[in-house]
Amino acid sequence: LKTDALTRIENAPDVAALEALRIEFLGKQGSISGLMKTLGKMTPEERQVQGPLLNGLRTETTDAIAARKAVLEDAELEARLATESLDLTLPAPEAPKGSVHPVSQVMDELAEIFADLGFSIATGPEIEDDWHNFTALNMAETHPARAMHDTFYFPDLDAEGRRMLLRTHTSPVQIRSMVKQGAPIRIIAPGRVYRSDSDATHTPMFHQVEGLVIDKDIHLGHLKWTLETFLKAFFERDDIVLRLRPSYFPFTEPSVEVDVGWQDVQGRRVLGGDGDAPGHGWMELLGSGMVNARVIEFAGLDPDEWQGFAFGVGVDRLAMLKYGMDDLRAFFDGDQRWLDHYGFSP
Ligand code: PHE
Repeated sequence: LKTDALTRIENAPDVAALEALRIEFLGKQGSISGLMKTLGKMTPEERQVQGPLLNGLRTETTDAIAARKAVLEDAELEARLATESLDLTLPAPEAPKGSVHPVSQVMDELAEIFADLGFSIATGPEIEDDWHNFTALNMAETHPARAMHDTFYFPDLDAEGRRMLLRTHTSPVQIRSMVKQGAPIRIIAPGRVYRSDSDATHTPMFHQVEGLVIDKDIHLGHLKWTLETFLKAFFERDDIVLRLRPSYFPFTEPSVEVDVGWQDVQGRRVLGGDGDAPGHGWMELLGSGMVNARVIEFAGLDPDEWQGFAFGVGVDRLAMLKYGMDDLRAFFDGDQRWLDHYGFSP
């Protein structure tokens, strides 16, 4: 039995045949298993002789099967490797990927540009209190400029008796920065702002970036240079021209509204992503000015020692200009086709 078993195992042609042999010899009804069972009926003397012999037979058979199995499996693997070849030139299946939204893209660009100018990033809450959003910015309860903001108010006062609202601009971060870190300051504050307003160029939620510099001997020239440098870097062109118009904001004095345009090679002023904006000489871009002394005082600094400038720019509007988009509402529809159209797919 032993030589027969070992020869047949040695010659088993494949793993399946080997498994059949294993069952034939070592399975529950197997011939070797059968012999093992006879041990129970032997006399102790017989068992002493036969026991080691049968156990040896079982072990040898088991080992032989394992050895043959290893050989067969190796051979099978070799055969598979020989027939299966991998075509590394085949294109990989396309995996869906996300992309950066134009608003995030612009915010990242702004953060980078201003980082080069030594500005760090500040943030403030979107649910703001009346004091930071208005009062400390020189808009008293009865100030008419409050009406310009179409504010979303919360219906009830909060636990501390504060009137809460969705911030209508990023300017409250000016106050928070001055109160928290004192002077000097050089920050930008990007974020969401809210106004009850909706048409092609207004959405109830939109994005601003606030800029604030507080230091000694800061003047309007610093503001102009900073804005020019920022806009040239942002639009990636040197022929940017700015127009500074006198304006009014309660929290800046003097206040300056800034329009942007640029010249083509013939010296004609052109605008917008496609270089044409018929009927428009200038694009109104941002509000700015020298921080009102009253605001510096509200925030706990001495206006005789510290001055500065501030500006607030619409991020969505910057994105529209740079990438030639025309409907602001589409920014927040989440329509992949719109992103594709403007090249915002990966
Ligand atoms: N907060 C103003 C707005 O939302 C913009 C602004 C910011 C103007 C800073 C002046 C200085 O319209």
